[in-house]
Amino acid sequence: MLSIIKKRECILLFTAFFLVFSSHAHESCKIAVIGTGYVGLVTGAGLAELGHNVCCVDIDKKKIDQLQQGIIPIYEIGLDELVHKNVNKGTLRFSTDIEKVIREIDIIFIAVGTPSMPDGRADLTAVKAVIEAIKENSHTSKIVCVKSTVPIGTCRQLAQMIDCDNHNIVIISNPEFLREGFAVQDFFNPSRIVVGTEFTEQAEIMRTIYAPFLDKNIPFLCTDLVSAEAIKYASNAFLAVKVTYINEIAQLCSAVGANINAVATGMGLDDRIGNKFLSPGPGFGGYCFPKDATALVRTAEEAGVALRVVTSCIEANKHHKHYIVQKTAELCGDGLCGKTVAVWGLAFKANTDDVRESAAIDIINEFLKMGATVKAYDPMAQENMKQIIPNILYCDTKEQVLDCSDVLVILTEWQEFKEFDYDRLVDYINRVAVIDTRDVVPAVAAKRNVNSIYKLGC
Ligand code: UDX
Repeated sequence: MLSIIKKRECILLFTAFFLVFSSHAHESCKIAVIGTGYVGLVTGAGLAELGHNVCCVDIDKKKIDQLQQGIIPIYEIGLDELVHKNVNKGTLRFSTDIEKVIREIDIIFIAVGTPSMPDGRADLTAVKAVIEAIKENSHTSKIVCVKSTVPIGTCRQLAQMIDCDNHNIVIISNPEFLREGFAVQDFFNPSRIVVGTEFTEQAEIMRTIYAPFLDKNIPFLCTDLVSAEAIKYASNAFLAVKVTYINEIAQLCSAVGANINAVATGMGLDDRIGNKFLSPGPGFGGYCFPKDATALVRTAEEAGVALRVVTSCIEANKHHKHYIVQKTAELCGDGLCGKTVAVWGLAFKANTDDVRESAAIDIINEFLKMGATVKAYDPMAQENMKQIIPNILYCDTKEQVLDCSDVLVILTEWQEFKEFDYDRLVDYINRVAVIDTRDVVPAVAAKRNVNSIYKLGC
């Protein structure tokens, strides 16, 4: 242990000296990224673009075969180009041989999935399997950087599990804040880099890895392990609360005759509130917010703390989806039994094919329970939704969905829905009734059809 500390101090002194005379070291590091999901693949390709030599690893042979053939298994704007560019440059490669990669590379990012278990806690099986592999195959000192979203306190447990001091391994928490659909853009324009480690030498190596961002004055926040993990969960839960708050204010605006867009604009002009994340919708969804908000509440419960605001936010989000269904039934006049509901948008937000925890799932299931027939269209997410809700009619175009329908419900803010000529709805739909949960229908068209178009919050 003493020798490790001495070695660390020597390197630290050298590093500190070097930093005084240069801005941030632009050294190329050899990095392994384990897990090639949307976080791992974007991080791996992004780090390669920053000038590092990256090997992305996954146990899914099919996925790695595809990547080696130049096929990108997920849709993410700009990812295709980024991967191809760096593969061609020779700075990015793919492998399934986790043991070999661990033996060869000393900086390892873990970006494997941490799905929710039925009780809401995160399933750490994949993270722990990687940690075991690192323990078994490490013969040199390693930095293990945890990008996977893990419950607060996990990195400490992983450090114990791996017996860090004896194995000369340092565990670092380095949470990601990438939005789906904008993950590449977010990687290169981060709001902050958060690094959780108590070891100065390893913190400096992280600074070297992210040097191009530091040069752009992007904040680099170095905290202890647990705080870094907490930042990730507290941020996501806060954003979920913000969205849920604006959704409830939108309900109120509808009830009292105010306009949510005016209200959100007025609120957002206050710097303390900010104008982002104030767009009402059918309820938040996606892989992160629902999972992370629930996991945060569980962690807090285990620590003896009741997170009442986040708990209410999860409840209010459920209720908001129900509100959308009730509004639809109301607009149809005499309920939904025997009616045909057209749904535009299945993805949990635009620019992704992801339907995980999408509000569309609960909303469509409630329509079906009420005896409605559902026809749906989404430019990208149909195939994924078919796996979750197979018993509705999927159409090839947005116009086809409208045919013989009684009501149109817009759930995702795709650009093509904004460009539709809503005055032509009468040509398609039985009786014009639209529930616009995403502010997609232009205000003038909504005004012309004020009795049949309901815009959430207006
Ligand atoms: C989120 C976080 O933003 C990101 O930092 C984290 O790393 C992962 O989780 P993402 O899941 O891609 O990213 O979705 P995001 O764009 O944040 O939206 C989450 C949900 O909130 C979506 O359902 C979206 O439609 C909804 N939303 C967001 C609104 O309804 N209104 C808003 O104003 C913003």
